[in-house]
Amino acid sequence: QALLPLDLDQLLREVVETWVIRALDKRIDLGYEHAGKVLIDGNAFLLREMINNLLDNALRYTPVGGRVTARVAALGDFVVLEIEDNGPGISEDESLKVFDRFYRGEGADVEGSGLGLAIVREIAEVHKAAASLRPRARNPAEGEAAGCVARIVFPAHRPPREPVQEPVQTGFA
Ligand SMILES: Nc1ncnc2c1ncn2[C@@H]1O[C@H](COP(=O)(O)OP(=O)(O)OP(=O)(O)O)[C@@H](O)[C@H]1O
Ligand SMILES: [Mg+2]
Repeated sequence: QALLPLDLDQLLREVVETWVIRALDKRIDLGYEHAGKVLIDGNAFLLREMINNLLDNALRYTPVGGRVTARVAALGDFVVLEIEDNGPGISEDESLKVFDRFYRGEGADVEGSGLGLAIVREIAEVHKAAASLRPRARNPAEGEAAGCVARIVFPAHRPPREPVQEPVQTGFA
């Protein structure tokens, strides 16, 4: 698959917009935190599929009235995509298994085939990115214990180097 420079923040916003109705149906506060232009080398078709799978999970497993937040951040040589929710969360133990094909969580009482995150991991690999789903760091002020963060860490796009200026030859020495 061809990887071309693309703005992951803009792509994320476009995909999030397509989930707004589904979020409203469940009274989930679906947020997108704007980051400005953040370039990676990516395949837009595959990345849409990846983000769709992550948002599908976040909105499916988070109960009515919950909150889901999507964001992208540039961190030096890396670009981090996060989908955070305040749903049931997952244990450290489960977080090692959820990317396996056909793995479905104990508490997954909603339908699914267990393939969403396996596909996410494959798409991450195509982009030399690392995918994880971890319990969310607790914010004591919020008094919220649960929830998880899906995080994909991509290598940032490197702009081509400026050609080195050769010193101008002014004559014969
Ligand atoms: N945001 C989340 N919160 C809690 N558990 C999650 C979350 N995302 C994934 N999981 C757990 O990881 C399991 C695997 O997720 P995955 O997307 O691979 O499959 P699925 O959602 O069960 O089925 P589908 O193939 O329809 O996506 C889920 O069954 C669920 O237990
Ligand atoms: Mg899924």
